[in-house]
Amino acid sequence: MKTTEHHAVIIAENLKKIYETKVPIGLFRRKKKRVIALKGVSFSVNEGEIFGLLGPNGAGKTTLIKILTTLLLPDAGRAIVNGFDVVKQPEEVRKSVGVMLMGERALYWKLTGRENLEFFGSLYKVPKDILKKRINEIVEFLGIQEFIDRLVETYSSGQKVLLAFAKALINDASIIFLDEPTVALDPRRAIEVRQKIKKLKEEGKTIFLTTHIMQEADELCDRVAIIDEGRIVAIGTPDELKRTIKGKSAVEVDIVCSNPKTIVEKIQQIDGVHKIAWDVTSSEKGEIVRIRVICDNPREILPPMMEILLNNGVKIHYIKPEEPTLEDVFLYYTGKLLA
Ligand SMILES: Nc1ncnc2c1ncn2[C@@H]1O[C@H](COP(=O)(O)OP(=O)(O)OP(=O)(O)O)[C@@H](O)[C@H]1O
Ligand SMILES: [Mg+2]
Repeated sequence: MKTTEHHAVIIAENLKKIYETKVPIGLFRRKKKRVIALKGVSFSVNEGEIFGLLGPNGAGKTTLIKILTTLLLPDAGRAIVNGFDVVKQPEEVRKSVGVMLMGERALYWKLTGRENLEFFGSLYKVPKDILKKRINEIVEFLGIQEFIDRLVETYSSGQKVLLAFAKALINDASIIFLDEPTVALDPRRAIEVRQKIKKLKEEGKTIFLTTHIMQEADELCDRVAIIDEGRIVAIGTPDELKRTIKGKSAVEVDIVCSNPKTIVEKIQQIDGVHKIAWDVTSSEKGEIVRIRVICDNPREILPPMMEILLNNGVKIHYIKPEEPTLEDVFLYYTGKLLA
């Protein structure tokens, strides 16, 4: 096996970000409100790896990408990207990175996709002939020929996501930041985009991506940082993360019931139950409560669990012991479901 020296191309040290906003109270008065989006985040990303930030809505993922790509200043801490300080050397950082942001508003709706790429390429001062060739390569690579010469205002949300992905490749940067790259894509396109991300890695690029989909993090990432409420709660390869809760199993239950809270509290009392979390989804059959339990041994907790469910007149849709997933790692550290 070839041993390669780990070379960190992204280093974050104790990054903090606080948003100050004003919320209305009453008709005319406004009150200052502080949202602490990042509470001291540290990690590093090695050259050539796919590094994923996995976390639920509002965890701080987009904030972190914006800081690492100089779109936002941190309130404390330090970040080095490709050897450059994001606060002191923003120009150098910008030249080193390609960025795709979720819900990209920076695309020009009155231009075609290709014109957008030409425009953003010219900002990086890529010579015209090279740019033209590169755009063709990117269009082919992503398979977006069909709509690239249409006005962006006619794009579906998935097509906008793909154009934003193309934009992140326009300066042929060695470090690529992707904020929820498969959001709004249909399953087939999502699979394709994941394959493209792997291809980019094969070409030697470093990829930093965010996602709230645990299967995506598991499949794609060499290493994953799990983030919740502005803090990284665990970091490692997907296998390492799952091993941190080894010896423990998960049991997933889908039920229809009117009193999920009471049921969950009763299950929590069972010996050998470590963590439990639940959420509710509505379907045409009514509200389905999904409960996930982390325990030592499913065989020991299933009988008392069944008893609780049956004694409380619950309709069971599904109950099954499962291998721990990254969602269980998240649940183990935060007591919540990723959802
Ligand atoms: N401009 C802003 N002003 C005030 N609060 C903000 C601003 N941007 C983000 N926040 C808040 O900071 C926190 C982190 O937001 P961020 O967008 O980084 O989360 P996220 O992990 O990307 O979430 P999502 O999965 O929903 O995209 C949230 O509580 C959010 O409401
Ligand atoms: Mg986000």
